[in-house]
Amino acid sequence: MEVKTSLLDNMIGVGDMVLLEPLSEDSFLENLKNRFDHNEIYTYIGSVVISMNPYRSLPIYTPDKVEEYRNRNFYELSPHIYALADEAYRSLRDQDKDQCILITGESGAGKTEASKLVMSYVAAVCGKGQEVNKVKEQLLQSNPVLEAFGNAKTVRNDNSSRFGKYMDIEFDFKGDPLGGVISNYLLEKSRVVKQPRGERNFHIFYQLLSGASDDTLKKLKLDRDFSKYNYLSLDSAVVSGLDDATNFRTVRNAMQIVGFMEDELQSVLELVAAVLKLGNIEFKPESRCNGTDESRIKDKNDLKEMCELLGIEQSVLERAFSYRTVEAKMEKVSTTLNVAQAYYARDALAKNLYSRLFSWLVTRINESIKAQAKTRHKVMGVLDIYGFEIFEEGDNSFEQFIINYCNEKLQQIFIELTLREEQEEYVREGIEWTNIEYFNNAIICDLIENNQNGIMAMLDEECLRPGTVTDETFLDKLNTVCAEHQHFESRLSKNSKFLNDHSLPHNCFRIQHYAGKVLYRVEGFVDKNNDLLYRDLSQAMYKANHSLIKQLFPEGNPAKVNLKRPPTAGFQFKASVGTLMSNLQTKNPNYIRCIKPNDKKASHVFTESLVCHQVRYLGLMENVRVRRAGYAFRQAYEPCLERYKMLCKKTWPHWRGPAREGVEVLMADLQVPTEEFSYGRSKIFIRNPRTLFFLEERRKQCLQDLATLIQKIYRGWKCRIQFLLLKKSQIVVAAWYRRYAQQQKYQKIKRATTVVQSYTRGWQARKLLRELKYQKRCEEAVTTITAYWHGTQARRELRRLKEEARRKHAVAVIWAYWQGLKVRREYRKFFRANAGKKIYDFTIQRILQKYFLGLKSNIPSMSPIDKNWPARPYFFLEGVHAELRRIFHLWRCKKYRSQFTEEKKVVYEEKLEASELFKDKKALYPSSVSQPFKGDYLEISKNPKYQKLSSVVDEKILLSDMVNKINRANGKCSARIFLLTKKNVILADQKTGQVKASLPLLDLASVSVSTQSDGFFALKLKEGSSSAVKGDFLLSSEHLIEITTKLHRMGATTADREQLYIDISDEFLVQFKQDKVCVKFIQGGPKNGNGVSCKRKNNRLLEVSVPTTP
Ligand SMILES: Nc1ncnc2c1ncn2[C@@H]1O[C@H](COP(=O)(O)OP(=O)(O)OP(=O)(O)O)[C@@H](O)[C@H]1O
Ligand SMILES: [Mg+2]
Repeated sequence: MEVKTSLLDNMIGVGDMVLLEPLSEDSFLENLKNRFDHNEIYTYIGSVVISMNPYRSLPIYTPDKVEEYRNRNFYELSPHIYALADEAYRSLRDQDKDQCILITGESGAGKTEASKLVMSYVAAVCGKGQEVNKVKEQLLQSNPVLEAFGNAKTVRNDNSSRFGKYMDIEFDFKGDPLGGVISNYLLEKSRVVKQPRGERNFHIFYQLLSGASDDTLKKLKLDRDFSKYNYLSLDSAVVSGLDDATNFRTVRNAMQIVGFMEDELQSVLELVAAVLKLGNIEFKPESRCNGTDESRIKDKNDLKEMCELLGIEQSVLERAFSYRTVEAKMEKVSTTLNVAQAYYARDALAKNLYSRLFSWLVTRINESIKAQAKTRHKVMGVLDIYGFEIFEEGDNSFEQFIINYCNEKLQQIFIELTLREEQEEYVREGIEWTNIEYFNNAIICDLIENNQNGIMAMLDEECLRPGTVTDETFLDKLNTVCAEHQHFESRLSKNSKFLNDHSLPHNCFRIQHYAGKVLYRVEGFVDKNNDLLYRDLSQAMYKANHSLIKQLFPEGNPAKVNLKRPPTAGFQFKASVGTLMSNLQTKNPNYIRCIKPNDKKASHVFTESLVCHQVRYLGLMENVRVRRAGYAFRQAYEPCLERYKMLCKKTWPHWRGPAREGVEVLMADLQVPTEEFSYGRSKIFIRNPRTLFFLEERRKQCLQDLATLIQKIYRGWKCRIQFLLLKKSQIVVAAWYRRYAQQQKYQKIKRATTVVQSYTRGWQARKLLRELKYQKRCEEAVTTITAYWHGTQARRELRRLKEEARRKHAVAVIWAYWQGLKVRREYRKFFRANAGKKIYDFTIQRILQKYFLGLKSNIPSMSPIDKNWPARPYFFLEGVHAELRRIFHLWRCKKYRSQFTEEKKVVYEEKLEASELFKDKKALYPSSVSQPFKGDYLEISKNPKYQKLSSVVDEKILLSDMVNKINRANGKCSARIFLLTKKNVILADQKTGQVKASLPLLDLASVSVSTQSDGFFALKLKEGSSSAVKGDFLLSSEHLIEITTKLHRMGATTADREQLYIDISDEFLVQFKQDKVCVKFIQGGPKNGNGVSCKRKNNRLLEVSVPTTP
């Protein structure tokens, strides 16, 4: 449950001054002090927030605090600026009421800080999103930029705003910020050229010189040393707690976030630098012979640098500092400027340059933060304007006059709006309106701003009047026109009552402002109001080759020469204040009144006189009185009933009816006098704080009673709960114990019973056992006797049966013998005649049958070379057995052959022939058996090497092989290609494939080979044949068996030729041309190794030694 607190809870002093009782200035100050001492810097006057500057950071602006105050009613929590910001924001968002937050107070009272707190609170609670966050960031970042250019250290405040600022923040219907518009009021430009003792120029000058990089300073032709610049006061150039260098970076960063381009930033810095340079330009007098005083620039270096920075021609500016041209009715008159005038012109230029730059910055920021959406916006205005200013000893000048005028106007609008609001609330709530007495400062406003005889109108009149115009003539005029006014005082006024008032000097006038009397010194009023900048200077500025400068001095454009005087400063200010006032009047006001607790900028110090002074001139007592004039306190019925319902039995603890009736019952029951309160539509209005405090006191008392009651009930309840718990526990414990005791008893009885039972059972069992044993013994005895008896019987029977069987068998044997004897005797003759043949046939038949069946089961494998055959069983079957073996062999050979192809058949035929020719005749034969007869070993037709050869031989090649031809002369070998066709044997060169010899098969007489394992063979030619001329050929080949077999077969297949004779012997003759040489094969010794060697021994003998066959 949410804990509802109230402004009235835990109060230090009184949170709302309206409730102060008794109300007096002392009690007011006492309350403020009391709260300030307890770090309560915020106090309300109704809906107005008084803020005391704590001069130290308090932990009351954390995100948690933001959450605490978010969406809470104004009086729900202790006073805080967040409560006001939240109230304003919620009425803007939910009730569509434009709001303005008016922050007033004297310099250093915390206005600017307050405005920033309000803005940051609103930024924290309003909507979120990328676009919205950007807008928020831009709005918040506009502050550091304006503070750098518009704030300065003064004796009162290290960060004093030297301009008035009003910012409209625009929101869409959801309450998300869209953008904003800033208006600035009257920058204190005199500060640019001169600062009072202990004060500084605007922050930006110091920030630039301290924080800019060396490079930037060089570009701006500046020196880091402050003492080089006349416009910078030196005595307080460094302010403790202010880090100019860091602030410069912050400002640069803020300008980038706000949307300043890099070149714009550069231009701005150039202008700032130009102002500093301008201050260093000095003049010296020069007298002319015609008696006029002229001025000359002392050292032109600064002028030159400034002109370079701004792109101005030096001579143009130099001339503008020396002459003044006055144009009147088409006439131009130039007069020279003396030194004083030249300095005046210089300072006027510096002031104008800076103040216009400031206004441009505001315009530029406005451009960036302008709301994009065209829809209607809700607006929250935040006004941070200089507070009422009173300098001691009549040091108040034109600026203070203007400022105080503005405050006077704000006071007026405050009174008007507060009263109006009060009045509106009464009407809204249906309360009768009672007239409220208050001081209306309209009369003072009229004294200042009246168009006919107001002080400002007089000043303008003087400024515009031809002839000699001085501050004194202005004062004279005031003395005559305003003399009768009751708020105007002057020594020389017709109202002679001030003639002897020595506190009123002659050159001064005094106005009784609502906040007190202020003495103004007239010196400088006319000049400051005129705010004159010689046209020559504005024209020189316009001529600058610098876009920003050109923009700032549009009146310098020669094409737009305007002879009319520009409006005076006072006139402009009055107009802008008028606009501001009418703007504020359309909005719902929220006030923050800032108070400065001391002059030392110190925390924890409360200077009563200073605060009293501020309380007076801020009209805070007035404020309380106005607020209390009708009803001091008001509260909606629901929270009122909620808060006080315990004071009446009828409403406590619950009131079922409407809240208003509940409050009525409550008030009647408490017997509050009826004139002390009124019932509005939704609120009760309490006239006197005393009544409220009475209620509060009763409530406090009642709360204490209630607390005691609650305590009592709680204690009773707690004890009862404790007792009940104990009781319950006791029952449980007792139950458990009883159960346990019963269990124990039961176990005991059970054990005893079991023992008795077991004894009884044992006794019974033993008795039974005895009986059973006796019974069993009896039964066994009977059985044994029976068995014996049956045994005797059985044996007796067996014996009888055996005897009987023996007799029967004997009878059967005798009968069989007798029968056999009879049969044998009968068939003896018949048996002897046929039995022999039949027995023989039968026996033979049986034997053959057994033989064939045995053969069948032992039949050997189907391999033709398998030599196995079962052994012969009977001698008489020898012939049959051999025949069967032969038939079986033939049959399996046939089977074997039938699976051959034609080609394979030929090969086998060749193999068969080879076997017939060489088996057991030549030692080489066995090794050839396993070699298949391939024939075309060289693959003549396929091999490209022998292409030529294959083209010469047109017949089918039956065999091609590489052979060695034995040289007849020395027995050496040379390789030859050996080809066998159907008709020829061809020998060709191994390398070239050229045919060396072609021997027709018909010319071959025989082939001789040895019996040994060599591959030598001689092709012997028929004598007289054409081939025989060259003689026989002695060749050797690895495929000798194949070659000779094929040669032999050729003879067999060719019909026209007899079969070639194969001669196998180790000595044969070979015809070498004319000679017959004997080729002799001998078994070679070990020196031959494995190779076959051939040697020509002599003319008749060629010896071939062949390795011994293993
Ligand atoms: N709520 C606050 N908490 C902490 N310090 C504060 C607070 N308000 C003001 N200050 C301190 O007081 C100084 C002056 O405040 P601020 O600049 O807001 O005064 P001001 O009323 O705007 O003065 P001026 O009229 O000269 O601009 C701040 O720089 C800050 O140090
Ligand atoms: Mg300020």
